[in-house]
Amino acid sequence: MTSSTPYDVRDAEVIVVGSGLAGMTAVLQLAPRAVTLITKTAGLPGGSSLYAQGGIAAAVGPGDRPEDHAADTVAAGAGLVDAAMAALLTRDGAAQVRRLLADGLPFDRAPDGSPLLGREAAHGAARIVHAGGDATGRTLVTALAERVLATPSVRVETDAFAVDLVLRNGRVCGLLACHGQGWVLHRAPRVILATGGIGATFARTTNPAEATGDGLAIAARAGARLADLEFVQFHPTALAVDADPVPLLTEALRGAGALLLDGQGHRFMPDEHPLAELAPRDVVARAIGRRVAAGEPVFLDLRPALAAKPGGFPTVLALCAEHGLDPFAEPMPVAPAAHYHMGGVVTDADGRTSLEGLWACGEVACTGVHGANRLASNSLLEALVFGARVARDVAERPLAPLPPFALPRPPAVAADVSHILLDAIGAEARSALYDGAGLVRDGLGLLAARRKLDRLAAALDTLRCEDNDAEAPPAIVRHWGEARNRLLVGRLVVHAALAREESRGAHCRSDHPLPTPASMSRTLTLSDLAGFAAPLPGDAACCIL
Ligand code: SIN
Repeated sequence: MTSSTPYDVRDAEVIVVGSGLAGMTAVLQLAPRAVTLITKTAGLPGGSSLYAQGGIAAAVGPGDRPEDHAADTVAAGAGLVDAAMAALLTRDGAAQVRRLLADGLPFDRAPDGSPLLGREAAHGAARIVHAGGDATGRTLVTALAERVLATPSVRVETDAFAVDLVLRNGRVCGLLACHGQGWVLHRAPRVILATGGIGATFARTTNPAEATGDGLAIAARAGARLADLEFVQFHPTALAVDADPVPLLTEALRGAGALLLDGQGHRFMPDEHPLAELAPRDVVARAIGRRVAAGEPVFLDLRPALAAKPGGFPTVLALCAEHGLDPFAEPMPVAPAAHYHMGGVVTDADGRTSLEGLWACGEVACTGVHGANRLASNSLLEALVFGARVARDVAERPLAPLPPFALPRPPAVAADVSHILLDAIGAEARSALYDGAGLVRDGLGLLAARRKLDRLAAALDTLRCEDNDAEAPPAIVRHWGEARNRLLVGRLVVHAALAREESRGAHCRSDHPLPTPASMSRTLTLSDLAGFAAPLPGDAACCIL
């Protein structure tokens, strides 16, 4: 902190970090409490929810039951789903979706007003509600963002990068954030992390640039319990173009009849799984990934789906057009990409973490509903259900007033650090994680990734400074902070993937190809990471007073 860097202190009853579906759901449910919503994006809405094409899974159709949806969720999770949490998700979820339908949210409907229900992989029934065809996430969070911005009790802080939690005696007392104009200590007895996933820690992802695992890293540095970090879902059909993020070709296309073809135009999925194109997502992703890794292109022929659902895929058509591709004329090239993190900050059914005063919801949380593999379209559902549950718990839970504490000193970054240098570190980290801890992993590749990430983390740490007269401006500090989070998350994922010497769900180890009957530890904290690599000062830089 220099005299030229302003440092402000603001008080709130509750802080919500993140501007996707989970965070905004929590914020709206908390009104009229004084809530501060902090987001590093330039406006609302932000995060991966905006990019979600697939829809929301909910047992709201005739004859469908939450129990059946829960059974599909448990089956997809390869033995690691918490059945009670899946029951809660599907029961609360059906009720929530019915409420949103009654509330007039713009879901796609039949002429009689009933929701149009789509089918996706590994679901035993057509139970996916959509909005705007394949623009479900965008339609939903845009509508919610308007409500948030019109709610007088909510203070929205955009362009505000959450750096670290402030702890006193193990209790969360607020959050230090780097805003466009300087530092702000947000003092609050309750903090909700709704920061989304970690896709942008991988070189090839469907997630937006902001998905750098900030909430996971913040919670890890504060000592929170984390779980299932090795389980990263790769979406099978991202458009194989040079873009970041890579455009998604929604699974709903395959639900509506789109076919996967190899380089010879042969439909290969019936040889891989009885459910063919609608096999579980990890099976489809690996079938495609194997071919792509062998140098064979794979294509998705969208034409059967476009004919079956005219007007149903405006987002997909726009994305193809942006890349000069015409899916009516020819099949589209596809390849898997990092898409969703099943692991995260351990929470209970009300989103409480292991730290007093800290809650988490949405993709950053690990509630146990996804296990080793998430069922398609359960993520927006999870955001809705647990965003609301967290808000209810936060509102009902009495907490003692905050103890007095001194202003924490923000991390300082040397003045000569450039965006170019930080970009280079970030790009190397992303490649290391994608190459070593991608769709198919093995011990040697994971160890190589670990060495690279450790080296990059050490290099990043040398960019900190103690000299108050020579510190970088907030934009560089934020960039440095994202790189720090990316590296910590990458190292945690690699650590967990090395420890799980089996293949299960989305975690596929070519050197341990079968699931093992032995139960393995699923939780860890930052101290476990320090146990295998020399602890770096950056990892312990949480504002512990
Ligand atoms: C998709 O549209 O294929 C993605 C939906 C999801 O990840 O659940």
